[in-house]
Amino acid sequence: MLSSFFIGVALLMGLHVQTASAFIECSVLDYGAVADNSTDLGPALTKTWQECVIPQVTTTVATDVLLYVPAGNYLLASTVTFDDAANWNLHIAGDIYLPFNPDLTGTMLTFENCENILLNGPGAIYGNGYRYRPDGDLTLYPSRPRLIRFQTCNNCEITQVFLYDAPMFHVTIIGDNNVAHDMAIIASHIGETDGFDMSGNNNYVHDVSVENGDECVTVKTPTNGFLAERITCKWTAGCNIGSFGSGATGVDVQNVYYSDVTISNSDAGVMIKSYPNCQGTVKNVTYTGFTLDAAAYPIYISAFWEGGTDDTGTLEISDVTFENFAGSGTPTRPGVLLDCNKATPCESITFSDISLTDTTADTFTNACGTGLSGLEAC
Ligand SMILES: *[C@@H]1O[C@H](CO)[C@@H](O)[C@H](O)[C@H]1NC(C)=O
Ligand SMILES: *[C@@H]1O[C@H](CO)[C@@H](O)[C@H](O)[C@H]1NC(C)=O
Repeated sequence: MLSSFFIGVALLMGLHVQTASAFIECSVLDYGAVADNSTDLGPALTKTWQECVIPQVTTTVATDVLLYVPAGNYLLASTVTFDDAANWNLHIAGDIYLPFNPDLTGTMLTFENCENILLNGPGAIYGNGYRYRPDGDLTLYPSRPRLIRFQTCNNCEITQVFLYDAPMFHVTIIGDNNVAHDMAIIASHIGETDGFDMSGNNNYVHDVSVENGDECVTVKTPTNGFLAERITCKWTAGCNIGSFGSGATGVDVQNVYYSDVTISNSDAGVMIKSYPNCQGTVKNVTYTGFTLDAAAYPIYISAFWEGGTDDTGTLEISDVTFENFAGSGTPTRPGVLLDCNKATPCESITFSDISLTDTTADTFTNACGTGLSGLEAC
């Protein structure tokens, strides 16, 4: 009697200790997933999340509750949305493959209205994007799927998961205080394969590498506070701001800082790109420590990136600093090209230590600043 009382107490304490130390692993294999590369992982992710993860989240430490995809090969044949997700960890140790399915559309993994989610590897997602773009044709399956989206998410982290060849964009993050770091994206050298598209406040991308044919680490509106450090971009369209879309009003991008970026074989180095009919503000942007190798348009601000030449816009671009740029552009393009709206010239564009080879002469239209010969003072 007495001893069973003590066993009972010990059991209770044991349970209590287990909950408090709180490491709970919810494996997709217990909820219908099969690592056979043919059973759809999508429903198992949803079921694991609903039946195991949600009921067991009791702390705000994301790594306390894992939605675990163990090592093995999985087919992800349907999209999954984690809505109102908070305080858990999608831990992908396996390799996830997308099928080719012309009807597959949307985003494969969406986190929506989320808070403090960790998405990490060491696994990988293989998008098989090339199958959706036979012979490089981007028009055949225009609704082909995107890979990962954090939509209205704060304090999230994505790291150490490899992403290969999404049918469309790889990672979109919208929200505040999110971090993407220590990961690689590798895709075909073709358009609509964006690496990281970031918007919101105080997001941070560091120690990532992107090989694709479109945006590397790019800032979208609205953004207030963005930091990118130690970025490598291969065959990309560069680290850009924009574009903002035709007729965009209320563009608001401020306090952006890029540092220690290596860009090779690229369609651009850094661009602020807009349509000539946009309105709003881009200000206080710093690019420092860029190493370029065969980057067309190494430094380019264009209000006329797309949308013709009809100069009706009033996008105010000011306080943009380019410092410590070294390496090569391409022999047919200017090293620095500033092409701004007449009504709102680009102001306080500052250059220092710009040393670019294999370029044509810099050109400046409706822009003023310091640090390059031929650039008007403001
Ligand atoms: C898994 O299936 C996908 C698509 O159906 C295929 O591309 C991939 O090579 C397969 N992976 C393995 C390891 O067999
Ligand atoms: C400009 O942006 C940086 C961050 O990149 C920030 O530290 C600084 O305070 C901003 N300056 C102004 C005048 O807002």
